[in-house]
Amino acid sequence: MTTSLSKLHDYMADRRAVVDAALHGFFARPKRWPQRLYDASAWALFGGGKRMRPVLALASFEAVGGSADRPLDAILPAACAVEMVHTYSLVHDDLPCMDDDDERRGRPTVHVQFGEALALLAGDALLTEALRLIADRGAYNDAVPADEIMDATSALARAAGWLGMVGGQSIDLGFEQPVNDEASLTFLHRRKTGELFRFSTWSGALLGGGTPTQVHALSEYGETLGLAFQISDDVLDELEDQTERGDTAADTPSFPGLIGIDASRERAEALLVRCNELLEGFDERADPLRQLAWFAVYRDH
Ligand code: IPE
Ligand code: IPE
Ligand code: MG
Ligand code: MG
Ligand code: MG
Repeated sequence: MTTSLSKLHDYMADRRAVVDAALHGFFARPKRWPQRLYDASAWALFGGGKRMRPVLALASFEAVGGSADRPLDAILPAACAVEMVHTYSLVHDDLPCMDDDDERRGRPTVHVQFGEALALLAGDALLTEALRLIADRGAYNDAVPADEIMDATSALARAAGWLGMVGGQSIDLGFEQPVNDEASLTFLHRRKTGELFRFSTWSGALLGGGTPTQVHALSEYGETLGLAFQISDDVLDELEDQTERGDTAADTPSFPGLIGIDASRERAEALLVRCNELLEGFDERADPLRQLAWFAVYRDH
């Protein structure tokens, strides 16, 4: 395990650096206006995220080949765009009217640092710029045909919107159906988190030139992994609340709140087994995906 853990660490660090360089290239500070808006957006975008979603997009791309006529240029716009959507979702998620969090990744949240209105605008800008980027034919260096770019664009919008992350957030905050059993909580987590993960692995497989069977398997792998990832996030949040406040938070629906920490971990482990089953038809080029699934479940941050 030590060897594979250090391999995973190296893999993540390497791909994270690729993503960071691409993000800086796509999303550079404007020479003049609107620098303050950029700074608020960049505070979140370059604030030390794990880059799980873009790294998964790259790993899926590599797992299906991503051959010479499909260089990394083919996946970087989608990988960066999903990270920008994810980042916007966190900026808004932290706002006082939502989860009301003052800290993220050990630093003040955007609204604490820049004020609420600018945080709102930074989120708006990140979402809109993400869609501009993924739809921009010039960003792909001719590596991807226009119909695939259109498919990827609408898929990202769908994963982010009504039926995806935003719809999930609306359930999470109690505006939709009640969440009082595992089925409804699973439904919520699949929307609020699973859809962006699914987009990541699906786009990696599609833009990497995967076969329909591969695209289908990696799509389900991503959604399953996203659910596992949100369960482990709930467990980490719960442990932090217990340590910091000596009680449980549970004002938003969570697996530990519903079934306890041990059962939540078991659910995440069962999802890890499913992820590995979905990767059975893949060769060793899918090893990073196998390790990333392990990380999603057993991570400590
Ligand atoms: C946090 O996501 C929100 C969830 C959907 C669980 P991450 O844990 O991927 O956040 P960063 O970007 O790495 O900080
Ligand atoms: C966030 O879920 C999921 C989003 C779609 C933003 P959480 O509210 O649990 O994420 P953290 O714990 O604040 O990172
Ligand atoms: Mg939330
Ligand atoms: Mg939150
Ligand atoms: Mg959380």
